[in-house]
Amino acid sequence: MATAKITKTSAKSTKTTAKTPKKNQSDSDVKKILFVASESTPFIATGGLAEVIGSLTKALADTKKFDVRVVLPLYSDIKKEYRDKFSYLGNIYVHLAWRNQYCGIFSCVKDGVTFYFIDNEYYFKRPGCYGYFDDGERFAFFSRSVLEIMPFLDFYPDVMHCHDWQAALSAIYLKTNYCFRPEYQYIRALFTIHNIEYQGQYSMDLLCDLFDIFGEYRYLVEYRNSINLMKGAIECCERFSTVSPRYAQEIKQAYFAHGLEDIVRKNEFKLTGILNGIDDISYNCEKDAHLFENFTPDDFSNKKICKKELQKMLSLPQKPDVPVISMVSRLVSHKGLDLVTAVIEEFLQDDIQVVILGTGDAHYEGYFSHLAQKYPDKFSANIVFNGDLSRKIYSGSDIFLMPSKSEPCGLSQMIACRYGTVPIVRETGGLYDSIKPLENGYTFTNYNAHDMLYVLRQAVSDYKNKAEWTKLMYRSATTDFSWKRSAKEYEALYNEMLK
Ligand code: GLC
Repeated sequence: MATAKITKTSAKSTKTTAKTPKKNQSDSDVKKILFVASESTPFIATGGLAEVIGSLTKALADTKKFDVRVVLPLYSDIKKEYRDKFSYLGNIYVHLAWRNQYCGIFSCVKDGVTFYFIDNEYYFKRPGCYGYFDDGERFAFFSRSVLEIMPFLDFYPDVMHCHDWQAALSAIYLKTNYCFRPEYQYIRALFTIHNIEYQGQYSMDLLCDLFDIFGEYRYLVEYRNSINLMKGAIECCERFSTVSPRYAQEIKQAYFAHGLEDIVRKNEFKLTGILNGIDDISYNCEKDAHLFENFTPDDFSNKKICKKELQKMLSLPQKPDVPVISMVSRLVSHKGLDLVTAVIEEFLQDDIQVVILGTGDAHYEGYFSHLAQKYPDKFSANIVFNGDLSRKIYSGSDIFLMPSKSEPCGLSQMIACRYGTVPIVRETGGLYDSIKPLENGYTFTNYNAHDMLYVLRQAVSDYKNKAEWTKLMYRSATTDFSWKRSAKEYEALYNEMLK
């Protein structure tokens, strides 16, 4: 069992151990929620997970019903401008099998949410967040630290909300080691799957030596002769969730579950799907400073300037009536790029322009760069990750294409809507849940390139009917994708868990 040596700064006066077993709720109705995640905006972001952690926590804190805190690793990539504002709270030593590691604790408050950062330079003073040979050990240390800092902070949450495999071990350790201690006994674990593809799989040899899980608990994490941390978290948590209702259904099927369908089905009684929101203050066509011009859903006239300037910037002919179809995406297969590559040349024969932004697999990057050379007046390939340009594309294009093979939630289709850019999506996961045909976009069902092309051409033809198209843009731009809606659903789930 883990032990923690405690060193504290003199400035801090919190108790080092919680002596009385107490139900975690304070006297008031304010519930304590601790998010455990490997990234969060604005501090460190590599994808949608960070946006969700950054904005969901804020939305929950805004309700005033929750004391919301987040634990993150203190990566060296977190910018100095943020680090300079962190306070050092102290340090403890975290025990993991035969290891005994330094764990510094920093903190800051942002938008009513308290963030804690776990400092250990051996694990986190490296460029980027993931992709190291010892990621299993790094996130085991992180997940263990989350439980170990609780006595230091004298903060025992009502709900510990863990996200993706990197935080899975917090839920596993709670169940296997900590819940037997009085202070931890009322903590409920919620595990959210943002993408079931990444499960945290390791050799069984590492069970005791690295993950510090003893033989009696082997059955919780073992799956098909490997350690599978996502499987372990699903087994150990009180409830688990996905980032859209449709994805919660899909991951019961082999096609979507990357091998975990049996585990999901076995535990489906504790599964819920809650659609993500987006930060509607940041993604706001009326105020976004990245746009060439701002506009409103009631008056899209300035969107024409956004389009014209975008065409100019990307060296495309500035033709107001030619529809611009955009994609902002990681260039990887599950984003549906095989469909795009299969029919794009056929589509480029029409009177249209296509803009792509993103980085990813070399063969897609190469192919799109090649197309840009072959069709300079019709195709623009931007093989970069650029937040400013992405907003100029979302706002300056007419149609947004997102034909994913699978999509746990997807945020881009919602962002496009916010800028009056009508999405075309494949009916999967959160794309299915957020985009309704002709209400706020277009959809197609089968993973089939010509089905996609058919819908693209339908949209291009509808685009010519300006009056109807403007109504569609309005409906897209005013669809409620706010976190307020999703936060209510999380609130209901937390309440259910705490009954
Ligand atoms: C993952 C999923 C994406 C989802 C995001 C935030 O990146 O692939 O669909 O929107 O997490 O939950």
